[in-house]
Amino acid sequence: MAADSDILPSAVEAIGSTPIVDLVRISRTIEGRILAKLEFLNPGFSKKDRIARQIIADAEISGALKPGQTVVELTSGNTGTGLAIVCGIKGYPFVAVMSRGNSVERARMMSALGAEVVLVDQLPDSVPGQVSGGDLALVERKTQKIVAERHAFRADQFQLKGNFRAHYLNTGPEIIRQTGGDIDVFCDFAGTGGSFAGCAAALKEHNPRIKSYIVEPDGAAILAGEPVTYPNHRIQGGGYAMADLPLLDCALIDGYLKVTDQQAIAMARRLAKEEGIFAGFSSGANVAAATELLKTDFKGKTAVVLICDSGLKYLSTDLWDI
Ligand SMILES: Cc1ncc(COP(=O)(O)O)c(C=O)c1O
Repeated sequence: MAADSDILPSAVEAIGSTPIVDLVRISRTIEGRILAKLEFLNPGFSKKDRIARQIIADAEISGALKPGQTVVELTSGNTGTGLAIVCGIKGYPFVAVMSRGNSVERARMMSALGAEVVLVDQLPDSVPGQVSGGDLALVERKTQKIVAERHAFRADQFQLKGNFRAHYLNTGPEIIRQTGGDIDVFCDFAGTGGSFAGCAAALKEHNPRIKSYIVEPDGAAILAGEPVTYPNHRIQGGGYAMADLPLLDCALIDGYLKVTDQQAIAMARRLAKEEGIFAGFSSGANVAAATELLKTDFKGKTAVVLICDSGLKYLSTDLWDI
């Protein structure tokens, strides 16, 4: 019989402690190692479950969130799914506000988990599957309106430290434990920048020689100081071309990498075919970026990336064209 200590009281406690896999097949033709942390194995199939748990826990402790109060957040789907899980278990009504440009799976999943999903139309010149900064501004406006109307707690992933803390306290230390700290570089596709900043801070605290690189879409590399010529890229979950990310401490950034839609898509497909890892666009972007780094400045070194979410979230897109 299993020990009681092996049985978790809810899915919330199943968040985190994800495995790391050595991508030996993908890195076969390059010098160096790519270690991939499988965040799609979280209950909501993304790394964002971690920040949902931390933001709600922090707000309960600070008193910012009252028992039974409604929680609202702007989401590309993954944070909303995490919040739907955490709020559902803890008894907070949850409203997810999302652009209609994100894949339909996400809205269905949040709704199934008990969230009220409010979809916001994209700008007239935007394309489904390609959510721009302008589209996001419309979602932000709607989110603020709902928060005011319902006297809700805004689980603001762009502002609240819980986003950073989830990765600083958990994801980063897990990487150090799982690898023995024997890594050279971390690269991460930024949305809010919370994963990048939290992991990079923990890794550098452990060993200041570990470098961290921001990954951005080619044509929307605003953090690298480049002009934004392609805001409607395909890499869902980030690359919003927002110059100011409150959670992103620039002192943690050692360099910038750019990935095209085609590179992200091709690598997501390779992850599935060659490594048995069924992930989304941004995971493909992270691995593509790591591959480029190992071919150049970090030849022979070890890179770590997050596999941000599951490929199941993109079944309605052409990522998995057959
Ligand atoms: C699939 C996916 N990849 C990457 C990111 C970016 O992560 P972060 O907001 O921690 O920068 C997100 C954020 O929502 C995401 O959903």
